[in-house]
Amino acid sequence: MKYWDFDTIYRQAPASEPERQYYFIEKTREILQDKFNDDVISGEARKRYGKEKLDELLAKKQIGTFMIRTFGCQMNARDSEKLCGILQQAGLAASEEETADFVLYNTCTVRDNANQKVYGHLGYLQTLKKKNPWMTIALCGCMMQEPAVVQRIQKSYRFVDLIFGTHNIFKLAELLFRCLAEKNTIVDIWESTDQVVEDLPAERKYPFKSGVNIMYGCNNFCSYCIVPYVRGRERSRKPEEILSEIRRLASDGVKEVMLLGQNVNSYGKNLSEPVTFAELLRQVNEVEGIERIRFMTSHPKDLSEDLILAMKNLPKICRHLHLPLQSGSSRILKIMNRQYTKEQYLELVAQIRQAVPDISLTTDIIVGFPGETEADFEETLDVVRKVRYDSAFTFIYSKRTGTPASVMDNQVPEALVKERFERLLKEVQQISSQVCGRDTGTVQEVLVECENDHQDGYVSGRLSNNLLVHFPGSASLIGSLVPVELTESKGFYYMGRMADKS
Ligand code: 5AD
Ligand code: SF4
Repeated sequence: MKYWDFDTIYRQAPASEPERQYYFIEKTREILQDKFNDDVISGEARKRYGKEKLDELLAKKQIGTFMIRTFGCQMNARDSEKLCGILQQAGLAASEEETADFVLYNTCTVRDNANQKVYGHLGYLQTLKKKNPWMTIALCGCMMQEPAVVQRIQKSYRFVDLIFGTHNIFKLAELLFRCLAEKNTIVDIWESTDQVVEDLPAERKYPFKSGVNIMYGCNNFCSYCIVPYVRGRERSRKPEEILSEIRRLASDGVKEVMLLGQNVNSYGKNLSEPVTFAELLRQVNEVEGIERIRFMTSHPKDLSEDLILAMKNLPKICRHLHLPLQSGSSRILKIMNRQYTKEQYLELVAQIRQAVPDISLTTDIIVGFPGETEADFEETLDVVRKVRYDSAFTFIYSKRTGTPASVMDNQVPEALVKERFERLLKEVQQISSQVCGRDTGTVQEVLVECENDHQDGYVSGRLSNNLLVHFPGSASLIGSLVPVELTESKGFYYMGRMADKS
């Protein structure tokens, strides 16, 4: 490699964002190019990638490979698209984990099993790195915001080269550059931020649909939840910025947007000129080219009448609402700090159903919160039977260090929690298999997403209510909205056939 004057490179870096990151994307590209050229000449590159892959890299002027593994929620999935965009801009090509020069895990810590999955994969990465010592391994995301995790990684997983958190993911290029330049483990975790850095590259997984962050963080402090500690306080993006991103996506062929936030219903409260979520939806609904709008996640306590009206009146809003219940017991809801009762939740559902009768409702439920009695659990089952959700994500309560619930007495014995969990799951599945078939025989619009893996000549797409439909069709339909007659319900999905446009 040639001589690199790193001091000058750092000194000349712009101070403001996102210019600074664009500068480091370019510098990362230069340093990777230098290394790649050496490896091509020495024959190392051919050994590493194989002839075919190397020819492909050379033809596409790419200078190495990367792999991002994403754990957790849709926010993380969207963050990974941004991370991916930065790496591609720096000249790297997506590849398998086994052959990647740069492996990045975007982690989740909402429940302990999310952490365990990361540790499990790290064990595998360690064996890979022994074989491929040139690999750079990085960890980012929610788990890294926990000091105990970072300590454990620094002590027991010393092969990890780079660790950063949730608040500075926009800095990937700069951190990767430092990693390559300093050849040292780099750890950069911010405790909090009020910065929202926009306008960096992002690589979308689908050309026709995209997530759009409208806010970051959460102020609710539900007593079981670690999210406010690892994602920080609520920060809303300005409506102009969201709308210009959505207009850009539309002009790029995107038809469906998913507005993302931990609690979208409190969107806009902390802006210098406050805007409600319902108002934002009305503005998004005006964007030409966007045909479907989804959003996630709604907190029942902040779901306004105005939002219900917006869902009723705005034609582009999808017929689906994810409305986490967590527990059906008002007593437990109070200790969870959810700020609504069972009765208020049911009343809200009634109002929504009255305004939008064909809406599909889904939810999250936690079983085994500290102190949950059989009577409390029965209340949860009662809500499930009354609301009749299209589907429900059911979770076993997981103790998260630092949350108020983790030090509460009366942790429920594991065997009892498992037994309740099974009962709940059975109830939820039975109801959803009945509910999900309700549109059989009707014609509905489907946004076609992909060719069907299992049946040649079939494509798969989603209804407004988010259910999957498989029907005969060709790949040329991918990305378009087509009318489909739902001929048969298979419980959690439909079979159909294309109908005439009318
Ligand atoms: N234990 C179990 N489930 C949890 N969730 C959040 N924190 C915990 C926890 N400590 C669930 C909630 C939330 C979803 C994203 O994860 O149901 O809505
Ligand atoms: Fe966690 Fe509650 Fe915030 Fe959702 S609303 S992220 S459950 S604290």
